[in-house]
Amino acid sequence: MKPVVLLENVWKIYRLGEHELVALRDVNMCVEEGEFHCIIGPSGSGKSTLLSIIGGIERPTRGRVIVADVDLTTLNESQLAQFRRDNIGFVFQHFYLIPRLKIIENVELPLIAKGVPSKLRKKLALEALEAVGLRDKAYLKPTQISGGEMQRVAIARAIVTRPKILIADEPTGNLDVENTRRVMELFEKLNRELKITIVLATHNIELLPYCTRVTRVRDGTIVRVYWKEEIPKLVEELSTIIERR
Ligand SMILES: Nc1ncnc2c1ncn2[C@@H]1O[C@H](COP(=O)(O)OP(=O)(O)O)[C@@H](O)[C@H]1O
Ligand SMILES: [Mg+2]
Repeated sequence: MKPVVLLENVWKIYRLGEHELVALRDVNMCVEEGEFHCIIGPSGSGKSTLLSIIGGIERPTRGRVIVADVDLTTLNESQLAQFRRDNIGFVFQHFYLIPRLKIIENVELPLIAKGVPSKLRKKLALEALEAVGLRDKAYLKPTQISGGEMQRVAIARAIVTRPKILIADEPTGNLDVENTRRVMELFEKLNRELKITIVLATHNIELLPYCTRVTRVRDGTIVRVYWKEEIPKLVEELSTIIERR
């Protein structure tokens, strides 16, 4: 398998006045093509920072970041923006839909940024909505659908450009149990059928069984990487840690 994400000796240090906060400490990480890769760790362990660096939103303080064969540390700001548009889809805990736009128009937005003509935009947006099971809601406004559906629209918006990598930061953080299950099943389907590599960060151990590989982080470092077969045991271990608290 081919690595699509490769982090080498990555550090991220935030300077807060006189203080320094080390968010990532010499991280080495690899995500291979086709993985549904989960980054798990407690709040403040550096998951969002890791995803921002992988997605080209933030730059590391030190280290190399190679994503989809591009060394992101060599790109300037506009090249980085172009890289994100061409390669990455983002999904966050908050859905960030624009309420006055119809659902289809929300999904079209990344295509407008790429200069795709209107007719093709509509076609691709409807296909993305079809993939998340919401084609019939295309002409409604976000206020007319449920929270779970809103996140599925956000996922359609993230995949409409057919990105190599889908980055999801606590994507089920605002969802109930039933919608969490539906969204995770959707990610699983997109990973399997459309072969999209997914990198998802969460502190919720219930998401782990959907993933194909897990990187466990704590205090800005990687504790261990787990293969699919090891995930049930990891879930067991993490749930006893939670129960002991
Ligand atoms: N922009 C920032 N400025 C200063 N500190 C930050 C910034 N972003 C994150 N941090 C700090 O870096 C650490 C890791 O944060 P984060 O990556 O958001 O962790 P997680 O997503 O696992 O909760 C935390 O201590 C957080 O307070
Ligand atoms: Mg976070």
